[in-house]
Amino acid sequence: MRNVVIVGAGLTKFGEQWKKSFREMITEAAVSAILDSKLEGKDIEAIYTGTMATGKFIGQEHIGALISDRLGLNPIPSTRLEAACASGSVALKQGYLSIKSGEHDIVAVGGVEKMTEVGVHHASSALGGAGDQETELFHGATFPALYALLARAHMKKFGTTEKHLAQVAVKNHENGVDNPFAQFRNRITIEHVLNSSNVSSPLKLLDCSPLTDGAAGLILMEKQKALDLGLDAVEIVSMAQASDSLALTGRKSLTELNATKQAGKLAYKKAGITAKDIDIAEVHDCFTIAEILAIEDLDFVKKGSGGNATMSGFTAKNGSLPINTSGGLKAKGHPVGATGVAQAVEISQQLLGKADKRQVKGLEYGLTHNVGGSGATCVVGIYRRA
Ligand code: COA
Repeated sequence: MRNVVIVGAGLTKFGEQWKKSFREMITEAAVSAILDSKLEGKDIEAIYTGTMATGKFIGQEHIGALISDRLGLNPIPSTRLEAACASGSVALKQGYLSIKSGEHDIVAVGGVEKMTEVGVHHASSALGGAGDQETELFHGATFPALYALLARAHMKKFGTTEKHLAQVAVKNHENGVDNPFAQFRNRITIEHVLNSSNVSSPLKLLDCSPLTDGAAGLILMEKQKALDLGLDAVEIVSMAQASDSLALTGRKSLTELNATKQAGKLAYKKAGITAKDIDIAEVHDCFTIAEILAIEDLDFVKKGSGGNATMSGFTAKNGSLPINTSGGLKAKGHPVGATGVAQAVEISQQLLGKADKRQVKGLEYGLTHNVGGSGATCVVGIYRRA
């Protein structure tokens, strides 16, 4: 079986990018990934891009064609993939499989979203389409409301508190300070979070990821070819994907995301490791409760103890298992289609020792965890320096 490595990674700055269009952002991320790989555009055999709702955000569809055209890479195949906020990881998985299968040797993977061209009401409605339009969005249940329900259930069952939730945001903003690509680079305190305005109780403004413009790119290559060329490479050891009911009403439990549990279990099995072997992870903290669910459902901590583990510093940059050293979705920002690819950018830079001030030492295995909607799709990736 062929193995797959990441040989190049690039990002645009995340945030409100008033001066950059969608197409300029994805071009910038792609060029930056190609330059990082030391390969050339002509070496790329196919492009896979994750983006969620371009029709609603910028009125443009047929994104695959737009990107190959814009990059001057016609006539290679260029495909857009969509799985809500997991679009980027689904694109990454597709690129990974295309090399593993022998179809291609070198591919580009991208993720992009431009969310701030429209107002917050329009954006919430576009994002709400990632849940169940008929049983949730139609009745006014946008994403903060759905995750607020998950938070309430967790608080009731396990005694998780608003302070526990707030500490996730405090930690991720602390990490974002050292990320020049992050949307928010300011430190916050638990009091700031608790006193921020209510969005959907118990979630407040500072419990939420923001609306973000941004793009991320990766160059993937067949491992032996990359090693023969002496390229700095990070192996994608395994990737696994799982699905669950689109609506929360279809879930067996509101205190876990079963798609995370299933994708995690399969990713560990394929990699031949357990959660204990993971040294660093980027997890999907679209709301603070989401990070607590993720660290429990990925088996990093016992079910119900995610709040206390966060409070104890277990997931801090200098803790036993650093989570979201990039600042996570909370502070780095969450341009939905780009997020999964950006998570892999951070983990590959960490494993290569190229994360500057964010660098964590002594790493062997890294993990990415990307969720679509309120948990209807999940993709987990495991990585190691090649
Ligand atoms: N974290 C920290 N600060 C934030 C923020 C966030 N999530 N969202 C906005 N801000 C800041 C803005 O920078 C702005 O600061 P300024 O006044 O210093 O410029 C201020 O708060 C007000 O911003 P505004 O854009 O008016 O906020 P808003 O009320 O329109 O939007 C949310 C706030 C929380 C509703 C919006 O960010 C949101 O919908 N987030 C969730 C996105 C989502 O659901 N993603 C998919 C997840 S599955």
